[in-house]
Amino acid sequence: MTKILGISGSLRAHSYNTALLRAAQALAVPDVTLDAATLHGIPLYDGDVEQREGLPAAVTELKQRIVESDGVLLVTPEYNSGIPGVFKNAIDWLSRPSADIARVFGDRPFALVGASQGGFGTILSQNAWLSVLRKLGARHWSGGTLMVSRATQVFDENGAIRDEAISRQLGDFLRGYAAWIDGARR
Ligand code: FNR
Repeated sequence: MTKILGISGSLRAHSYNTALLRAAQALAVPDVTLDAATLHGIPLYDGDVEQREGLPAAVTELKQRIVESDGVLLVTPEYNSGIPGVFKNAIDWLSRPSADIARVFGDRPFALVGASQGGFGTILSQNAWLSVLRKLGARHWSGGTLMVSRATQVFDENGAIRDEAISRQLGDFLRGYAAWIDGARR
């Protein structure tokens, strides 16, 4: 069984990215468990707070879930052609203390998907993530891409994918990513 942790980078209740993560879970890919994590409860990074109190509980908890996973799927929105602050902020916390980076990120297989309301489906934020993952020593699966554009047309009012081609692409993406993780473990 390949254990993937998906993290949605949006806090919105009706987030398209959270809906994408839920749709991925609903696909129930054989031999893959896909757990979902949110960024709720993670405060803004503050070096004084870190020095005084250590890591916030929400960060420690997410860190532990990453460490227990075989791979991490970042489900990223795009804000102003880049990574949303809440998502980058969470990763910054997770990279503290720096002595922990290798355990949390080092060689861990990461993959990126995302949904946006614009026409380019998070291509710029996904691209911006690459340098962050490289800095943290994570491995990035580049064997597939999923960039969901025009999200208002792709999801219905309940957050389910109504575009069958996107649903198929999502399944292909997950199977490919899980096979890559699996191959690397052997
Ligand atoms: C956006 N949005 C957006 N979309 C896009 O395709 N390219 C972009 O650069 C931006 N920039 C941007 C900035 C800010 C501050 C906001 C709030 C929004 C629109 C974005 O794709 C849309 O709000 C998505 O619905 C956000 O993802 P969630 O919250 O639905 O997961």
